[in-house]
Amino acid sequence: MDGLPQPPAPPVHVAIIMDGNGRWAKARGMPRLVGHKRGVEAVRGAVKAAQTLGVKYLTLYGFSSENWRRPEAEVKDLMGLLRLYLRSEIAELHREGVRLRIIGQRTRLSDDINALIDNGERLTEGNHTLTLTLALSYGGRDEIAYAAKCIAEAVKTGTLDPAEIDEETVARHLFTCDMPDPDLLIRTSGEKRISNFLLWQCAYAELVFIDKHWPDFSRDDLESAIREYHGRERRFGASAGTSR
Ligand code: IPE
Ligand code: IPE
Ligand code: MG
Repeated sequence: MDGLPQPPAPPVHVAIIMDGNGRWAKARGMPRLVGHKRGVEAVRGAVKAAQTLGVKYLTLYGFSSENWRRPEAEVKDLMGLLRLYLRSEIAELHREGVRLRIIGQRTRLSDDINALIDNGERLTEGNHTLTLTLALSYGGRDEIAYAAKCIAEAVKTGTLDPAEIDEETVARHLFTCDMPDPDLLIRTSGEKRISNFLLWQCAYAELVFIDKHWPDFSRDDLESAIREYHGRERRFGASAGTSR
């Protein structure tokens, strides 16, 4: 194969803010729940697409720490869909060699959902084709505050010297301690904000915003976001043309 131009390597870690389920349903005169159901279908498609495009880590924002403020009925619907997804999908993910991970405030999720998560994480922990991380009851600020608490505890018990605290120390105490940072962050539905997602980890992620609502997200959209990513020059603070 020497001499032939090689295609650029896919981003190792893609993170997605899956937004717009409600607006997708509203535009069709349907209840928000229908949009959320179609959103789950889009998740299935995105997982498959990520695998075939060679992505190694896919992190999906499913429910934020602020989404608990939504009406009780919608929260119940979303938790119901999460329960169904975990029940129906874990065996298939395992067959495909996908490792499932959950990040977020697990204590706020119900016992039965936590049991499904424990089972799914245990079953798939040796898998390597793709690590699928679902951010549930997740907030970036909350995660950083939790890391600060753990670090303070270590200082208090004398196992950590404050002078040694650096970026690595903080990163080690985040839910994502064993994952690379996202290379590409995609948000659907046209909003151009981060909404408390992976605040620390996205320091140098390339951001791609897509106007489509999440239920309409397809393999083509992931491919074109990756193409846009390949067209960017990542500098990591260096001068143009000198980055790694
Ligand atoms: C994303 O869609 C799903 C969740 C945040 C749980 P939304 O429910 O935020 O849909 P919009 O943004 O209201 O259209
Ligand atoms: C972000 O979407 C959270 C998820 C996609 C799970 P939101 O719809 O909650 O964000 P805002 O309220 O528009 O910022
Ligand atoms: Mg939204």
